Formats: sequence, structure tokens, C-alpha cells
Amino acid sequence: MAEAKKRLGILTSGGDCPGLNAVIRGAVKSANQLGYECIGFRKGYEGLVDPITYVTLNHKNTSGILTQGGTILGSTNKGRFVAKVGVDDRAELDVELMAEARATCEQLNLAGLICVGGDGSLEIANQLYEFGIPAVGVPKTIDNDLSATAFTFGFDSAVACATDALDRLHTTAASHERIMVLEVMGRHAGWIALHAGIAGGGDVILIPEISWTFDQVCHKILDRESRGKKFTLIVVAEGAELPGGALVTGEKAENQGQERLGGIGHIVAEEVSRRLHREARCVVLGHLQRGGPPTTFDRVLATQFGAHAVRLVHHRRFGEMVCYQPPDIDSVPIPLAIGRLSQVNPLSSEVQAARALGISFGDVEATSSPFDMRHEARIPEIGDEFNDRDEFDDRDDGNRAEEAAATVMS
Ligand code: F6P
Repeated sequence: MAEAKKRLGILTSGGDCPGLNAVIRGAVKSANQLGYECIGFRKGYEGLVDPITYVTLNHKNTSGILTQGGTILGSTNKGRFVAKVGVDDRAELDVELMAEARATCEQLNLAGLICVGGDGSLEIANQLYEFGIPAVGVPKTIDNDLSATAFTFGFDSAVACATDALDRLHTTAASHERIMVLEVMGRHAGWIALHAGIAGGGDVILIPEISWTFDQVCHKILDRESRGKKFTLIVVAEGAELPGGALVTGEKAENQGQERLGGIGHIVAEEVSRRLHREARCVVLGHLQRGGPPTTFDRVLATQFGAHAVRLVHHRRFGEMVCYQPPDIDSVPIPLAIGRLSQVNPLSSEVQAARALGISFGDVEATSSPFDMRHEARIPEIGDEFNDRDEFDDRDDGNRAEEAAATVMS
């Protein structure tokens, strides 16, 4: 009797991001090499249940999608599968729904189900796995907030978009001597704001992980003015808390797991303008960060993730999620990736480097961080050189940082 064709399912779930199609293509190509036929479920997990909707994926319909943003399978962060309702709140999926999804996988004779998604979608994948579905996970999100992986694909593309926006804002801010506020996405993690802020030459970066005050933001603006810089670029993460600790949120859409963040950029622009009597404008970058072609970094990462997810299925490593632990692509049990949000460490070298350049985080800078101590211990000759110069102490911190950077570069 002829052996039944080996089959593998794939779905993309949650908010889309650049690189989803690259994962699909990577998975299909490598699955075909191992003799699997692939099917893709439409609109995330919804395609698994009535009305069951899927498409056979092959060389023909996945050819040319490497560079395309979005997902050819469609996606949703609403609907019947909602397993995450807040930062730490997990909701149990309906047992009948899971039974229906399991029956679909059995009827289609799936050797494995590759679930591509962020924390909420991977929580669903984990519950399905615990229910007996041979699921494996692939981490996707522009927010880069999943633990156990150094990067999620989509993040680099979002940072490139936010950096491009800052580059553009830079020239118009300088021409008009204005304060420009750029609000970026990222939910409760400040990764996009931090990386774009550094890459795009931001002057102030406000992120959820560092408490800030309007006084310090205004102080930075005035400090720049005193040095002849009549404009300031402020990057604010949508999930940064206001000084009182409040999050700025919109309406929670019906049937949607988590609250919708956004609006803090306008508040920052208005308050700074009110306090300093300066012109300020706000740009909310929004979903532009999720669109467009993936960067080369994301294409490579997503392609590797797709291929590795197939290997996980092939070796029956169900319940695991592909991860990037430089330089390796590896895997971890899904709960390790979704149990804790990956946030910016305020003492990380990225933050310390930003501070060293004079970028303000709107706080009163902590001076006794481990980085500072390592920094002093590792390169004393740079400090010595400056300390020998009498005029150094008379200059402000911003100039000192600029000069130190110039010395290191030369
Ligand atoms: O998780 C990705 C993300 O783009 C967040 O950065 C943002 O808060 C959210 O999704 C927006 O979701 P929606 O597309 O449902 O408005």
C-alpha cells in the first residue's frame, strides 16, 4: 500500500510584521526537501476551525514572496483564539475549540503545525501542544519582547522604518527649530524606541523601562539650546508610562486580548510646548512600522527560523520554539519564551552608550552602574588624557561626551 504523504501545517498569527512570508517560504522549501507537503491555514488559528480554510503551499505560490511584507496566509489578533489578555494574564482556551483544532490536524494527517507568532500566539501554540497538537513555535514581533531569543524577526525592519522617520524629522526639525516627538510601537518594551533613537540620532528617548519626568525632558531641551542646538528630537515608546505611572491607552477592541496602546506622543509634545513655550509637533508612526519589505537581517533570520521549525517537526521536538542565540539558531520549550517579557535593561551597554553620547532618558542619570565601572577599568587612558586638560572640567557633559566620542573615533 502506498504510504500517506507526509504533511506539515503552517500558520501566521497576531499582528503582522515584515519577514512572515520569508518564514513561510523558508519552511516550504526546506519541508519539500525532506519530503513533506505543506499546507497553510488562513487567518492564523481561525483557519483550523469551522470554516476550516487552508491552501496547499508549493514552490509556485511561495516563489517571490521572500521580499514581500505582510503574510500571504493572512493573520489576526482577534477572534476565537485569545490566550493572553494582559501583560501577565493568561486565558485558558476553550476545550471544544482545541478539540476541533486537533481533529483538523488529525484529519489532514499533519506531522506538525508550525505556529508563527508573538507572545499571545505562542501562548496559544503552547496550550494546543499541551492538548495534544504537534505544534512548534516561531517567534515573530516587531516589539522584540520575547525571552529566550536575542531577536525576533520584524524588529530590525521596524527599527529601520523608525530610523528613516527620524532622519526625515531631523532635517525639518532643524529647519524650523522645533521639537519633534516621534511615537513608536513596541508595547511594554522600549526596544524599537531605544534602537531607532540611537540609530536616528534622537536626543531624548522615553521607554517603559526607565521612569522619566517632564522636568528632565525640558532640561535636556534647554541644555541643547544653550549649546546652540535649537531643535530636539524626542523618541517615545507607546508603552512608556507617564511620570505618574499611567499608561496611555485607547479603546480595547471587542474580542481583542490586550489593551491598545498609543497617544503618549501627543501628550509629551503638548506638555513640553506648554512648559517651554516652544513649537512642538508629534508624529505617530503606527502601522508603517509593520509594513514594507523585511530588511536583509530579517530575511536571513526569518529564513533560518522557517528552516529550523521544519527540523523541529522532523525530529518531533513539539512544544518547542525556534530561537536565535547568536551565533546559533536553536530551540527552547515555548514557556521559556513567553513566561517573561523581554525588556530593555536600563544598565545595558546600549543604554550606557546612549547616555555616554549625551542622549537623555528623561531621568536623573544613575552614575554608579556596572558599565561605568567596567568602562573606567577598561580604558583608563581615554579618561587620563582628558583629565590632564584643565579646560575640560569647565565644559558641560554633552560636550564632554561628544569630545570623548570623537577621540575614540580618531
Ligand atoms: O505587537 C505588535 C504591535 O504592532 C504593537 O507594537 C502594537 O501595540 C500593536 O501590535 C498594535 O496592534 P493592532 O494592529 O491590533 O492595532
